[in-house]
Amino acid sequence: MRPSPALLPAAPEDLRRALLAWYDGARRVLPWRAQAGETADPWAVLVSEIMLQQTTVATVTPRFADFLARFPTPAAMAAAPLDDVLHAWQGLGYYRRARSLHAAASAIVERHAGRLPDSLDTLAELPGIGAYTAAAVAAIAFGRGVVPIDGNVARVLARLLAHDAPLSPTKAEFRPAAAALAAPERAADLAQALMELGALVCTPRRPACAACPWGFACRAKAQGQAAELPGKSKKPERPTRYATAMLIEDGRGRLCFKKRPDTGLLAGLIELPTGPLRDRPFASEAALVAGLPAAHWVPLPGGVRHVFTHFALEVVLVEGRPAVPIEGGFFHGRDRLFELALPTLTKKLLRHAGVAV
Ligand code: ADE
Repeated sequence: MRPSPALLPAAPEDLRRALLAWYDGARRVLPWRAQAGETADPWAVLVSEIMLQQTTVATVTPRFADFLARFPTPAAMAAAPLDDVLHAWQGLGYYRRARSLHAAASAIVERHAGRLPDSLDTLAELPGIGAYTAAAVAAIAFGRGVVPIDGNVARVLARLLAHDAPLSPTKAEFRPAAAALAAPERAADLAQALMELGALVCTPRRPACAACPWGFACRAKAQGQAAELPGKSKKPERPTRYATAMLIEDGRGRLCFKKRPDTGLLAGLIELPTGPLRDRPFASEAALVAGLPAAHWVPLPGGVRHVFTHFALEVVLVEGRPAVPIEGGFFHGRDRLFELALPTLTKKLLRHAGVAV
């Protein structure tokens, strides 16, 4: 059943017309975006949408072309070991997305002969592809009349409708409005125009309502409330945790690294051997090295702080000489660190120790 258009504060065709006219003048040139009138490569769209989840356009833009050149098709990615994909994903964070992309590429090869399926439902059946990504690819790459709802789009719709509750995690409350707005004509542009409006005009803190193509209809603007909507949910507190990382060098100037387990935080990435995470700061130098293999450990002054989604981590580096054996550890030349899939935290630690990376 089509939702009632009365749900929207203006006729859907008027909203679409105003938004698309604005987009035609305001659209940014982005490496994953097709030129006006052209259709994007579906694989490039999938890669971009997964990269852009939880990562800004500014971070993804300089990385996108190299990543796509390394994995130009689903088949190229499916043929590569997961470690290569994790390596190419370095610094983009949320590595679970790289695993999802690898799994999706394999499924595209196995189930769909290497070509992305063109319907919303079949896209949504691919591993690691959620409702948002399936809708984004269906609209942007295949012109399906669906409106994907990410955080930006939800904010735009919340203001248009003067919806003052905090956004739910699934943002399902905006599906009726998105469905009322959707249309098969220029579906790819409509989806991207909404994202663009959220990124350039209907921004989180100081929306530029005077420049908004939907100013004529927006209920939040009429109420002078755009900046306050949607309602803010209480952020869960982010605890700080503490750990010691070991800097161990062998007689040939190589450093000791260890691969993380295949599940959990930074799964499968390479890091400096690290002691257990603790809930309290270390009370003394002795506490810092308690539980580490027996060696002469020298703490480096200061430490490194890194913020993950659910907690912040403060790490102190201790240098061990002579080289201590670490279970599961391996030595790797400091001039070849580019070969390793190192998470940002590990790079920060290495730089803190004066190692170029
Ligand atoms: N954020 C998520 N998807 C996007 C896209 N296709 N273009 C710009 N920003 C985005």
